[in-house]
Amino acid sequence: MKPVLSVLGTGYLGTTFAACMSSLGFEVIGVDTDTQKVERLSKGELPFFEPGLEEIVIAELASGRLTFTTDFSKAKNADMHFICVGTPQRDDGLAADLKYVFAAVDGITPFLKSGSLVVGKSTVPVGTAQKIRNQLALTAPQVEVAWNPEFTREGFAVEDSLRPDRIVVGVTSDRAEEILKGAYAPLLDIGTPWIRADLPTTELVKMAANSFLATKISFINAMAEVCEAAGGDVTVLARAIGYDPRIGNKFLKAGIGFGGGCIPKDIRAFIARAEELGATQALEFLKDIDSINLRARQRVIEVVRRTLSEDLSGFKIAVLGAAYKPDSDDVRDSPALDIAAQIHAAGATVTIHDPKALVNARKRFPAMQYAQTVEECLAGADLVLHLTEWAEYRSLDPKALSTITKSPRIIDGRNALDRDLWVAAGWKFHALGRANA
Ligand code: UDX
Repeated sequence: MKPVLSVLGTGYLGTTFAACMSSLGFEVIGVDTDTQKVERLSKGELPFFEPGLEEIVIAELASGRLTFTTDFSKAKNADMHFICVGTPQRDDGLAADLKYVFAAVDGITPFLKSGSLVVGKSTVPVGTAQKIRNQLALTAPQVEVAWNPEFTREGFAVEDSLRPDRIVVGVTSDRAEEILKGAYAPLLDIGTPWIRADLPTTELVKMAANSFLATKISFINAMAEVCEAAGGDVTVLARAIGYDPRIGNKFLKAGIGFGGGCIPKDIRAFIARAEELGATQALEFLKDIDSINLRARQRVIEVVRRTLSEDLSGFKIAVLGAAYKPDSDDVRDSPALDIAAQIHAAGATVTIHDPKALVNARKRFPAMQYAQTVEECLAGADLVLHLTEWAEYRSLDPKALSTITKSPRIIDGRNALDRDLWVAAGWKFHALGRANA
């Protein structure tokens, strides 16, 4: 008999995990407190954009293996309960807000069957799993707690879930490990590396992984600043150091930096937790990583002012991209949208285009203008900013677009466009960290 799984929290992480586990043949019950979300998911409608996921949700609903509900009691037969709720930054500081995690634990506690496993997937400060353990020891002593972080990237979530780099499980017994191996049997069969650890190490793995990724990006953005000062080219520098296998060429794309609902808040929560643990100095460097990242946004705004004028009022600026990264409609802590909003606040008229994120962007900043097509976005612009590297922007025809703008000037905030092509088409082209054309 295959184990039955429940997934608590059907946001981005939970929906992807629920649908993918169902596609591997498990019965999965997705539980969420948001009635509207559950209604939409039950009809096969995703509340966010993720390539390839909606098709899987529709097929799995039809198979009968996947269901969504607001009723925790429907998960009473589950052998494993995966906590997949959000852990956003708290309003009053850098730490993570764990209220959704504990609400999920409280919601499922009355329905936990004997011998079942509560498995955290949400990214949490180290020590959270033990707190849940302590709580359940009093309220549901018949269950065990495990941790199993998720490393999925938006835009590649299906691929990352069905073919992960590794599976990391934090357990306190061999039995818990065996139960988890039951859920991941199809992924173990394809050779996915399996790492067993204790609970705190497992919680730290996720924080360490995201901190390392953030460090790589801020490292190359720091190099971009030095390249600008010295007349070098950060894209060539990144390529040259990336051939060293100890360094590697991934996550060395200089530009306006990282954003999204995970990395920025995770490194801040990690700093806050280290302070609580008396290890403040160890993560002091992450504050610099955060500052370098936020500075990249300011550097673009400085280039805008240098290109146009200190006073931006009256200028028309076209922004290509609102999502924090391509293949996503997510605008949480998006560097692109943040830059657009700051330029708008400084008096410029800002028109934004994005293939998927316009609805979410408009909800956040209704006063800016939003264009359905690139042509509409660029019409009459004094300056174009390329801020999210959607593939479709790389195939634009700069020659044709140069006649639409008032002045063919572009800043490539992602070092993703073919500079020679744009310059040959008559554009004044500025890229972060590169000697300018
Ligand atoms: C990240 C982690 O990669 C993933 O393992 C974790 O589970 C969740 O957080 P994600 O938020 O989907 O995933 O985005 P990712 O692809 O890692 O990019 C994060 C940000 O860094 C984006 O804003 C992206 O534009 C930026 N980035 C990435 C760079 O600026 N340069 C790079 O070289 C790579």
